[in-house]
Amino acid sequence: MSSTEPRADSSYALEPIAGGEVFLRNFHPRDIPRLGEIVAEALREHYEPSLYLSLSQQWPQGFLIAQDRMGVPQGFLLGVNQVPGEARVLMFAVDGRWRDRGVGAHLMESFLQRCKSRGMARVTLEVRVGNATAIRFYTRFGFSVNDLLRGYYSDGENGYQMSRDL
Ligand SMILES: CC(C)(COP(=O)(O)OP(=O)(O)OC[C@H]1O[C@@H](n2cnc3c(N)ncnc32)[C@H](O)[C@@H]1OP(=O)(O)O)[C@@H](O)C(=O)NCCC(=O)NCCS
Repeated sequence: MSSTEPRADSSYALEPIAGGEVFLRNFHPRDIPRLGEIVAEALREHYEPSLYLSLSQQWPQGFLIAQDRMGVPQGFLLGVNQVPGEARVLMFAVDGRWRDRGVGAHLMESFLQRCKSRGMARVTLEVRVGNATAIRFYTRFGFSVNDLLRGYYSDGENGYQMSRDL
């Protein structure tokens, strides 16, 4: 391994993306403080650290981290499998400085692949009605709107439920 390669933990499957500057791996509990920062900035939500931990235990392969060369998370996708045959994206965000470089696309592609490998038939998610960037992103990935969720977010904004078949 050269000195420019990121420090790898043997339990991680590192996949280089964004020109080799970002790597996909599985979630680790030490990521939680950094994920809290990304969630506050990108999603305007605050969750207890224990929530990330308990959700990660349900389906560890559904919780993907995009780390920089220093091992610091710069994006993540947290999916759950609570309904048989169906995955749900609970949280998905990339740090503002790392957007529009394909990090989100790689997180989503890997997640959809993992869903298929687990034999799932459908993926659902919720998105703020005013989040045109995310709605365009999801549409590009084959998601379409199923339902309007009134007052779904903690600040009262409506949401859309979107889904796609696998
Ligand atoms: C939605 C989100 C996760 C997407 O992450 P991202 O890393 O910016 O995603 P990508 O870079 O793969 O794609 C974003 C855009 O950049 C473009 N892009 C990707 N790689 C690119 C590159 N190398 N050069 C130029 N543009 C590029 C994509 O075509 C895409 O444009 P489009 O959506 O208009 O087609 C990110 O915008 C985000 O964190 N938003 C705030 C949180 C949020 O809204 N989360 C979803 C809540 S439901």
